[in-house]
Amino acid sequence: MMDEKARILQLRDELHKHNYRYYVENNPVISDQEFDFLMHELQDLEAKHPELFDPNSPTQRVGSDLNNEFETVVHSRPMLSLGNTYNREEVADFWQRVSEGLMGAPFQICCELKFDGLSISLHYEDGRLVRAVTRGDGIQGDDVTANVRTIRSIPLQLPPGGDWPRQFEIRGEVLMPWKSFDRLNKEREEADEPLFANPRNAASGTLKSKNSSTVAQRGLDAYLYELRVDSPLPAPPLGEGHIPAASPLQSTPPKGERGGGFHYQNLEAAARWGFQVSKHMKLVDKLEDVFAYIDYWDKERRNLPVATDGVVLKVNSLAQQKSLGMTAKSPRWAIAYKFQAEQAETTLRQVVFQVGRTGAVTPVANMDPVQLAGTQVRRATLHNADVLASLDLHIGDRVLVEKGGEIIPKVVGKAEADNSKFLDASTPRRDCSRGTKIQNSKIEFVEDCPVCGSKLVRYEGEAAHYCPNDTGCPPLILGRIEHFISRKAMNITSLGPETVDDYYRRGLIHDAADLYELTASPKSSPEGKDFKPLPLGGGLVEAKILASIEDSKRVPFERVLFAIGIRFVGEIAAKTLARYYGSMDKVMEASKESLMQINGIGEVIADSVIQYFANPVNRAFVERLRSYGLQMELGEQQKQAQSDKLAGQSVVISGVFQHHSRDEYKALIEQHGGKNVGSISNKTSFVLAGENMGPAKLEKARKLGIRIMSEDEFLSFIASPASD
Ligand code: IVH
Repeated sequence: MMDEKARILQLRDELHKHNYRYYVENNPVISDQEFDFLMHELQDLEAKHPELFDPNSPTQRVGSDLNNEFETVVHSRPMLSLGNTYNREEVADFWQRVSEGLMGAPFQICCELKFDGLSISLHYEDGRLVRAVTRGDGIQGDDVTANVRTIRSIPLQLPPGGDWPRQFEIRGEVLMPWKSFDRLNKEREEADEPLFANPRNAASGTLKSKNSSTVAQRGLDAYLYELRVDSPLPAPPLGEGHIPAASPLQSTPPKGERGGGFHYQNLEAAARWGFQVSKHMKLVDKLEDVFAYIDYWDKERRNLPVATDGVVLKVNSLAQQKSLGMTAKSPRWAIAYKFQAEQAETTLRQVVFQVGRTGAVTPVANMDPVQLAGTQVRRATLHNADVLASLDLHIGDRVLVEKGGEIIPKVVGKAEADNSKFLDASTPRRDCSRGTKIQNSKIEFVEDCPVCGSKLVRYEGEAAHYCPNDTGCPPLILGRIEHFISRKAMNITSLGPETVDDYYRRGLIHDAADLYELTASPKSSPEGKDFKPLPLGGGLVEAKILASIEDSKRVPFERVLFAIGIRFVGEIAAKTLARYYGSMDKVMEASKESLMQINGIGEVIADSVIQYFANPVNRAFVERLRSYGLQMELGEQQKQAQSDKLAGQSVVISGVFQHHSRDEYKALIEQHGGKNVGSISNKTSFVLAGENMGPAKLEKARKLGIRIMSEDEFLSFIASPASD
């Protein structure tokens, strides 16, 4: 009998191949049953030989129930986004710019579909998938390797003997095919769970799932669209690989080009190695061919198994790409042409007003279901009061719905020849006493919060109306808790929004401070008061949640200030305030005038800070946080060596100060790289002047033209965000 180890390796190899045939080539050579049979054999053998565990084994495609915590990984090169165009002129302009940028040299453009999912970067070493990272902010993303391993069309192990480099990165799009998307939403509907608005959201939610077995069940797919290798790959013979020969492929580069390699040819190589590459890429060298490609796919995309939202045009030669370079955000050698959003016509039945987690109230149209861009739509946003008013809507109107770049479909107007403003007698209406047509009144925006009844407010310069009751209206409370635990605030990320909702619904938490009272099992606090037990007992997940709540007590003060959710106080303003005042108490006491003197703090923020602390509920909340041990002042480390803003500067201190003592100012000057000197000379950079600066010093400074800086000017200078 064959050695079990050898059998494991053989089965893994076979199953990788069957996977590829099934998921990439769409051409299985064995039945599902035979496949399952081999898989079970492998599972059994692997269970017997845990020492032979391999994360890239085909058995690992089913994922695991372990909680994934995503590590942040910095990309080897930034993951850029593309400039978007919506019309042909801009495509022609792009062509022209490329041509001019290349000083008239011949070039080819690779036309591709723009897949509507989320981008992913895959790293391979010795033919094995070692890491998969999301785009994140383009500079760094989340390590989602465990989840990506479950995507069947992504090879875990490249077939041996291929000409792949020992180490390479390949990028592409993870997406959810329509079929999986429809199935998923059907299941969710049956389970009374919120539906995903589109396949992109579903793919993104799935890939970020903490549970890779969930990912495995959801049927994600991936297309790869960018391969960079250090040394150019040899071009394969025409027609080989998985990009069909039928496409007008020119494998040999135009004359006069050397080095760098070619985008299309690289992807051909990737296809040979077993990656799924779109079969609909096309190399062209004429603008009219680009337009033909766009026109063709604008219609034909409806027959694709996956969502696409446009076409991507890329200069094919990597050397030419390099010479064209990029702008701050996107490459000059590529552009995305976005398809016009699809529209559909249907009947408006009702308008409801939804309160979001920021308190913004959005009017939402409920309509007769209509098919739009692959999904059935029955709800669409009406954005805000202004849009609602301008649409002049009445129940029963025929409306046009569009799915644009946004997640949610929107009502864009009334269908032409809309005669439905008058309801006929068959439409049930209380005031319809006679059988004649009656005027159906225009839909108006609400004045009060539909959840808590508070009078809505509209902030200057904003389109939305808000519920101001942020400590009493449930969606706002949840929004505040989510903000509080978010990564850039208290970083209690083991607690997801669903869990927060769940705890809130069960009455376990009413605000973020309640989190600090949670324990795994009921026990008494030192004061004899019962702590609230976590609902799920003392399992691993709860232990993790509790540990990260505990860890958050060490989060620096500036992030606590950000986390408490003062309107308009973002990360930077929180940092500025924290560094300026040094403690929560000082921020709480600050007057509007004092706040407004700070560089980067304007009237809107100042008013908001004052208003926040004027509310006793907020003050009590902050006091509770303090009692649980959160950081309420700058730590020693932050006080020290904060920047090199004063590097090389000599500063004279003179006069009497309000905010800090002389010694503290001396320390501050040093922490920012400056030197405190005793007397004024022509080497003095500036004088830090308090009240009652001596007249002789003042005179001397004036004479030498040396700047006099007030206490507030100085503090706001060193606190300003550029100090990072
Ligand atoms: S190339 C530097 N090709 O569109 C260019 N992107 O804004 C890198 N996308 O983030 C992207 N299909 O998620 C490229 N065939 C394709 C694409 C594609 C979809 C996505 C990708 C990227 C975004 C561009």
